[in-house]
Amino acid sequence: MSNPSLLILAGDGIGPEVMAEVKRIIDWFGARRDLTFDVTEGLVGGCSYDAHGTPLTDAVMAQAQEADAVLLGAVGGPKYDKLDFSVKPERGLLRLRKEMDLFSNLRPAQCFDALADFSSMKRDVVAGLDIMIVRELTSGIYFGEPRGVFKEGNERVGINTQRYTESEIARVARSAFELARKRDNRLCSMEKANVMESGILWRDVVQEVHDAEYPDVELSHMYADAGAMQLTRWPKQFDVIVTDNLFGDILSDLAAMLTGSLGMLPSASLGAPMANGRPKALYEPVHGSAPDIAGKGIANPIACILSFAMALRYSFDKGDEATRVEKAVEKVLADGVRTADLMQSGDGTPATTSQVGDAILAALDASL
Ligand code: IPM
Ligand code: MG
Repeated sequence: MSNPSLLILAGDGIGPEVMAEVKRIIDWFGARRDLTFDVTEGLVGGCSYDAHGTPLTDAVMAQAQEADAVLLGAVGGPKYDKLDFSVKPERGLLRLRKEMDLFSNLRPAQCFDALADFSSMKRDVVAGLDIMIVRELTSGIYFGEPRGVFKEGNERVGINTQRYTESEIARVARSAFELARKRDNRLCSMEKANVMESGILWRDVVQEVHDAEYPDVELSHMYADAGAMQLTRWPKQFDVIVTDNLFGDILSDLAAMLTGSLGMLPSASLGAPMANGRPKALYEPVHGSAPDIAGKGIANPIACILSFAMALRYSFDKGDEATRVEKAVEKVLADGVRTADLMQSGDGTPATTSQVGDAILAALDASL
């Protein structure tokens, strides 16, 4: 059997720096765990625009469709702020999500014990936190038509459309119910059914899927604004949260800060199973390209490394190896090897990106 294939799209800003550490870990698995991937690399985002005038070429799009999994770093940067909307770096990422039909975006927010004092929340609010946000990723206001800036009389009007079909809601709900069953068996669905028709449909469909297929899972519904409040008040009340594309974008950044740093959060974007049984999949850190620190070798590589761990678990059925990586990360944090985003003044010298990589590789060695 041939090796599983990985397409690496490191992207812009800190993307290449954090991905460099992931590549070392991929090599480690080849050398030490007899788990070798066929890796190819391509461009996405601003770097692709610079080289080809588009944030994603058709050739890279085709490679992504063929790959067993795609690993993405980050896209965007101030250099591209003035570009036409249609060729902005973010469009490359959105095209990948849309054309691969990656409708279910898993964003786990776990607070490592060593970082509990690092969150802006009190320790007892976040210590031991382990929640999963499932964000719908291919529809809603990010993609709905009509959209655009139009002339209406003598002024301009900006339009985006929130649009969800029943089947789009049902499929992401199913993926969230499935995850809940593997965890604490509780799902909270968030929308704005009090003001949005699409929210009413969302609530109805999630309830219907529950009643017909997942009556064993404890289901609750919450308005997304109240959900944001509850996430800061007592986040440990949640197990799995399912929500739409835009609310999921916002709530997952909020959840990230519960864990101490945006530099900690991985994500998996999953679609339907391919012919080989693996889901279409793209893995990426939740943090962005962080242009302010790009090129300095100080970015936190952990979110990207944990994203690779998610690939091991969700694409390659290697849950044990994923846990090995997660434990190595936990050990390194507990040992105090941390980048600047995870240090307070007086904590000593922060580690560089590659020093964190070194420490994680050493912890992986020690795990054998
Ligand atoms: C995210 C990001 C993206 C989004 C951007 C970069 C297009 O914020 O993945 O959360 O809005 O989905
Ligand atoms: Mg976001």
